[in-house]
Amino acid sequence: MAEDVDKTALLEEKKQQKKKKKNDDDEEEEKKSVNNHESGKNGESRRIWAFWTFFMIVCVPVIGAGIQYVRNTQLSARHEAALKTLGAEGLFLFSSLDTDHDLHLSPEEFKPIAEKLTGVAPPAEFEEEFIADPNGETLTVHATMQPLLLETMTKSKDGFLGVSHSALNGLRSWKRPDVPSSTFSANQFRIFLPPKGKGEPGDTWWIIPSELNIFTGYLPNNRYHPPTARGKEVLIHTLLSMFHPRPFIKSRFAPQGAVACVRAVSDFYYDIVFRIHAEFQLNDVPDFPFWFTPGQFAGHVVLSKDASHVRDFHLYVPNDKSLNVDMEWLYGTSESSNMEVDIGYLPQMELRASGPSTPSVIYDEQGNVMDSREEGGEPIHFVFEEIHWISEISRDDAAGRIEVTFYPFKKVEYLPFPEAFSRAETEGKLADEENLGLSQKARLHLEQYSFPVEMMVVLPNGTVVHHINANNFLDQTSIKPEAESESGFGFTGGFEDPSTSTYIHFLQEGLEKAKAYL
Ligand SMILES: *[C@@H]1O[C@H](CO)[C@@H](O)[C@H](O)[C@H]1NC(C)=O
Repeated sequence: MAEDVDKTALLEEKKQQKKKKKNDDDEEEEKKSVNNHESGKNGESRRIWAFWTFFMIVCVPVIGAGIQYVRNTQLSARHEAALKTLGAEGLFLFSSLDTDHDLHLSPEEFKPIAEKLTGVAPPAEFEEEFIADPNGETLTVHATMQPLLLETMTKSKDGFLGVSHSALNGLRSWKRPDVPSSTFSANQFRIFLPPKGKGEPGDTWWIIPSELNIFTGYLPNNRYHPPTARGKEVLIHTLLSMFHPRPFIKSRFAPQGAVACVRAVSDFYYDIVFRIHAEFQLNDVPDFPFWFTPGQFAGHVVLSKDASHVRDFHLYVPNDKSLNVDMEWLYGTSESSNMEVDIGYLPQMELRASGPSTPSVIYDEQGNVMDSREEGGEPIHFVFEEIHWISEISRDDAAGRIEVTFYPFKKVEYLPFPEAFSRAETEGKLADEENLGLSQKARLHLEQYSFPVEMMVVLPNGTVVHHINANNFLDQTSIKPEAESESGFGFTGGFEDPSTSTYIHFLQEGLEKAKAYL
């Protein structure tokens, strides 16, 4: 019965689309005939042309707004109907699959359910088809992990009081890697090679560019299944799938994506340092989503410049801080209000190549196949020459450059309180004016400070001219694009991520306010 209703709705939708197409065609006709007017060269037709142009300029936005209005109305009517049919939880599940939010499931959107019911995953479709060279080298990658220490979570202090058991299902049952070891073609690691024009130590680039900006906002929380990986995402998705079957290569919030940096160069090799921001969905239907977001995935790969040989590969979640994973889970169908947050410590999560990549087939001088690793017998021992780096930077330096690429505001050096002032006073024009002691400056700062973090624009003599609390700052960055114009919060300098444009805006306000003192 429900199916019938759905089909009717689908048909109706198709009809609407056809009608819309026809309208578009008519408009096209109209435009053509307008153009014909212009080709008549006398003044009369030119005036008519001018009138039509004006008419079109005025009308097109009005028609556009009209269509948008009708669409929104239809969508909210469909939403109502869907809520009636499925109830809040059912609609929540439906929406988790409906990635384009049109309240219809396309075959692509239905795929995760089909896979679950049939137990068969269709061959992954890749944008850039990878064809493994049977004569190419292969390497084996091992995954190791120690589960998150539940006792490091804030919510453990009261024994997870008020946290429903099902919320933590995915977390509690995730004890070991999903795929402990896997074999890759060396050539798959070519995604780490620098693009044209970037081959010197210190050069950085985006392997997977961030797609978050002020217009896209954040990606939704109610999703269980990662979208199909494409292009360079494919290898990273496969690698992270060794830990857990549901990695999301595009994290919901900034920082998003993957950045690499050339650390060292030799005649034949690169040492590439990388950093990936991705997250895992630990829960599955019928539990509500649980997002597990490690601080970052760091690592490096040493590979030949033609990617035929991988000398070394290591990927890991840094564990040198006392907390390194952010966790967010829903406990109801409202994405905005039914969200719990916690942080915890993950002692180990890493991938390591068992050794350099090796050929699977070896030929003797006559070109005959000598031995293949599949056959038994003595394993062949390969000897690898030592790599002599021609030019290089340190791992820390490379990591620093990657960080600046992720967070452009880190171009500004961060200094301890006393140093910041001595730097400002040597550089500032107010150096000769009244110079307060540090303690007095600290007092001026504390007067404006509130928990937990306050950002301030300060004169070299300690006067705070502008400040914003980190929580307010974050609230501003989460303003939805529609609300942006009302709030008077403008984006500066194009398509930056929300925190960058908010920060620039804050600094500009600070400079404006500072004018009063100068
Ligand atoms: C710092 O300098 C500004 C500009 O000269 C002045 O208006 C302000 O009163 C000074 N602040 C302190 C605490 O002396």
